[in-house]
Amino acid sequence: MSLSKATVAAIEKQRDRYPQPRSAILPALWAVQHEVGHLSPEAMGEVASLLRVAPSEVEAVSTFYSMYFQKPHGRHEVLVCINVSCGLRGADDIVGHLERTLGCASGETSADGEFTWASTVECLGACGGAPAMQVDHHFHEDLTPERVDDVLARVRNAGT
Ligand code: FES
Repeated sequence: MSLSKATVAAIEKQRDRYPQPRSAILPALWAVQHEVGHLSPEAMGEVASLLRVAPSEVEAVSTFYSMYFQKPHGRHEVLVCINVSCGLRGADDIVGHLERTLGCASGETSADGEFTWASTVECLGACGGAPAMQVDHHFHEDLTPERVDDVLARVRNAGT
């Protein structure tokens, strides 16, 4: 694969901002993920080449942070907390509802490619509004299956 000219230019611009090109790895990976949707080995190789760093440095950074995706990902990311507060207030019901609604297990992507969801996160820091989830980094609290349906419909219809 080859990155678009716009993405290459964005990475080069970031690279030239810093005394050490490796400082641009994070924004470079964002640029790739924005274009491709995930960080393929080929794309990470291109980043390493553009930044003139070893491919292992790029891979190390990309696998350290959970916001970088190593495999194809849905257009929207749903994270469901199942820690103590959320667990006591019905997180299991929310997880079961998402499995049925999206038709896939935690860690997987819905068949239409819209949602990748995970229930493996620890506390989201929204315990007062348990059970809670994040969709594309936005919090949704006091969840019920009906509220989950409403949130997913709004996200899907927003077309972003
Ligand atoms: Fe779920 Fe804290 S336990 S947000």
